[in-house]
Amino acid sequence: MNLIDALEDLRARFEDALKNSAGADSLDAVRVAFLGRSGDVTAVRRSIGKLPPAERPAAGQRINEAVEKMERALNEAQAKAEAIEVGASLSQRIDVTFPSIPPQQGSIHPMKRVMHDVCAYFERHGFAVVVGPEIEPDYYNFDALNIPPEHPAREGFDSFFLTPNLLLRPHTSPMQIRTMQQHRPPVAVVVPGTCYRRDAVDARHLYQFNQCEGLLVDEGVHMGHLKGMLTGMCRELFGSEQQVRFRPSYFPFTEPSAEVDTTCPLCRGAGGECRMCGGSGWIELGGAGMVHPNVLRNVDYDPDVYSGWAFGFGVERMALVRYDVDDIRRFFENDDAFLEQLA
Ligand code: PHE
Repeated sequence: MNLIDALEDLRARFEDALKNSAGADSLDAVRVAFLGRSGDVTAVRRSIGKLPPAERPAAGQRINEAVEKMERALNEAQAKAEAIEVGASLSQRIDVTFPSIPPQQGSIHPMKRVMHDVCAYFERHGFAVVVGPEIEPDYYNFDALNIPPEHPAREGFDSFFLTPNLLLRPHTSPMQIRTMQQHRPPVAVVVPGTCYRRDAVDARHLYQFNQCEGLLVDEGVHMGHLKGMLTGMCRELFGSEQQVRFRPSYFPFTEPSAEVDTTCPLCRGAGGECRMCGGSGWIELGGAGMVHPNVLRNVDYDPDVYSGWAFGFGVERMALVRYDVDDIRRFFENDDAFLEQLA
């Protein structure tokens, strides 16, 4: 191919490429392909060497002219492409009325909510809410509660001891003693609080958990009051049909003692295949009973004049029942999706 034909071919291909390019990036590619160091123009320039020397200057001139034209065309196309891009970005509309993403709202933790609702119920019935230390000496945890050293019941409260005489409280009952030491009867308190036991963690157990303790001492207090108050609480928390049943049990600090169940809120007491109560129709909430005369004596209350009842319920247990959750650990995993569901 002679030089003129080669340049004509180059021009035609260049114009094609230019027409088919879209945007600044593909124009760059065209520039490299034709005018770059190993581009098509370079190949044509090399062919000058094969011409007789007299023809070379004119040939060089033609090629330079062709290159200039290409550069001009490329620059114009580039300017046009940039103008289009800027125009497109300017014509993007912003809808200032479009609703924004709402800020994330926190909520009360289900455990706190249950504690709050239990306390609110008792407050409405004239009880005071009191809280106490989580580290207690033996005396408040055991001795004053009619559990002397060597008493087998101590084992039941698998405790974390900090010193031989100091432990993380395994129940909220120490506050029975502290309250009665500070006040003469009548006494009516409810005690929400965290407790600790050396339990292996599973779907129903944690080594750190919460209890709500209740204590009422006055003249003529009897177990019927206890059952009435607990039934009312369960109806408020779980539904108006709830029943409460007492199963005989043993605690050193109450006599008689009971374990307290409420109607399973899932099967409504029907039992059968219910996965919440395992078919019994009942859910255990905790322990209760009439305050043992020895406990009253330990705080200088006269058991011939005064009587009282107490209960201690597991708050996690109540939350499982209330929110139909199958694993206690879910409450403490800080899983946003889970907590939002219960909010
Ligand atoms: N403190 C007992 C426990 O944690 C529960 C309880 C409290 C029982 C008050 C009777 C009276 O197991």
